[in-house]
Amino acid sequence: MTIRTIATTPYDDQKPGTSGLRKRVTHFQQPNYVENFIQSLFDSLPGHEGQTLVIGGDGRYFNDTVIQIAIRMAAANGFGKVMVGQGGILSTPGASHIIRHYAAFGGIVLSASHNPGGPEGDFGIKYNASNGGPAPEKITNAVYERSRQITEYKVVDTPDVDLSALGVHEVAGMAVEVIDPVADYAALMETLFDFDAIADMFASGFRMRFDAMHAVTGPYAKAIIEGRLGAPEGTVINAVPLPDFGDGHPDPNLVYAKDLYDLLMGPDAPDFGAASDGDGDRNLIIGRNRFVTPSDSLALLAANAHLAPGYAKGIAGIARSMPTSAAADRVAEKLGIEMHETPTGWKFFGNLLDAGRVTICGEESAGTGSDHVREKDGLWAVLLWLNILAARKQGVDEIVREHWATYGRNYYSRHDYEEIDTAVANRLMDDLRAKLPELRETGIDGREIILADDFSYLDPVDGSTASKQGVRIGFSDGTRIVFRLSGTGTVGATLRVYIERYEPAGGAHDRDTQEALSDLIALADRIAQIKARTERDGPTVVT
Ligand code: G1P
Ligand code: ZN
Repeated sequence: MTIRTIATTPYDDQKPGTSGLRKRVTHFQQPNYVENFIQSLFDSLPGHEGQTLVIGGDGRYFNDTVIQIAIRMAAANGFGKVMVGQGGILSTPGASHIIRHYAAFGGIVLSASHNPGGPEGDFGIKYNASNGGPAPEKITNAVYERSRQITEYKVVDTPDVDLSALGVHEVAGMAVEVIDPVADYAALMETLFDFDAIADMFASGFRMRFDAMHAVTGPYAKAIIEGRLGAPEGTVINAVPLPDFGDGHPDPNLVYAKDLYDLLMGPDAPDFGAASDGDGDRNLIIGRNRFVTPSDSLALLAANAHLAPGYAKGIAGIARSMPTSAAADRVAEKLGIEMHETPTGWKFFGNLLDAGRVTICGEESAGTGSDHVREKDGLWAVLLWLNILAARKQGVDEIVREHWATYGRNYYSRHDYEEIDTAVANRLMDDLRAKLPELRETGIDGREIILADDFSYLDPVDGSTASKQGVRIGFSDGTRIVFRLSGTGTVGATLRVYIERYEPAGGAHDRDTQEALSDLIALADRIAQIKARTERDGPTVVT
């Protein structure tokens, strides 16, 4: 089989962001855009010859095309084997597990996560290393450098591989194994959680709704929640992954999963509602009459993890991204375990997990996970919640309230200003940084500011550093405002403002969140002049 070497010219915008390279589908459809990036990736992976590469995606539009390109290029670049999910499907945590379980060299996950799909939607390519986790910056920087100099790529001329049935194919001497995307993952979940106890709970009438949002978790949730745990058929809705997610926005937040929220707040609410995003790494947790913020969910899962067999010995430590609320910190303090604050993005948890310093990690953006894989894992969080509900025999609301009564409540909200002008956004951040010394000096409105900086992180495991990770302004009472620009958007810039106020145990825990934070929201606007600069009346998304 001849390997063809095709001449190409570089693109200058193939810099991976918070989670891989993410652009509009039409952008990826430019001549050689995909090939350039994949070749730049392979060129940046010394030692890949003869090794196994895992490939899969969230089923969005263009997934099938890019999978076939990646297979042909993997063969031409000397990989020994490709493992690909049936139908091209692998959730992000599922892919992470496959890479680890089969000791693969790495994996390519095709997804733009929670961003909309379809021909006019978004697409993305991310690479995970042999630990199953997102490529560290050392690799993504090398890929970017390479992409700016690339002159040719390698490919073999072979027909498309049939991904519809399980089995092994051969592509130019390289084995391509089509695997069941769900089986290994479901088996892993069974080792972590008390499936019998959860099944008993369903058998005695516990009602749940899981909204797979026509995204990748559909097949996983059906097989596990309805199949193995015996929940009635129909518990999992929107379970078939569609290229355009049924024209939806597969982001499990209160805006895009509003139907689920309304159901759980309504008169005939089931006991538990949950949803996951495009690629299955995010989660939304709603109890009857109780939405659980992701930051609280992280704290609650960490405090109760020992109730699940996989964590019965206790957890080694907790890590959270910097903008995530400090609710988990109080749990770590009580348990006497390590607590780490990292920059935004799952890749920063990898070293801590690999070193065994933390067991559970989470982000305010609806991502929670543990050392079972090296990605956040939506279904894992849902199953741990189910395990806790089965063990404690209490409802979500009761558990949340008891948690606040013990640890206090961190009122928390994130305000996003999407698709604002990039120059305006950069100037806003620059001006904010310039203001920090003065704020530290004088405080604001008579409030003492104990922290005003642009977050930098020193990785305690490998000594690497990451700077300019978000401006944080902290007050002495545990109140905090954080400003940062998104690294996953595809059009213009997205400003994220994270607002947090701590209400100690015994305080008022029943206030409406936006109302409890209203003075801080106004203060954030005054400090950064968001409305004036963006010419917006308010945020596009409030979570
Ligand atoms: C967002 C979230 C971040 C998450 C990432 C990938 O990144 O804020 O927590 O890890 O998506 O799911 P951002 O757009 O803020 O850079
Ligand atoms: Zn995702």
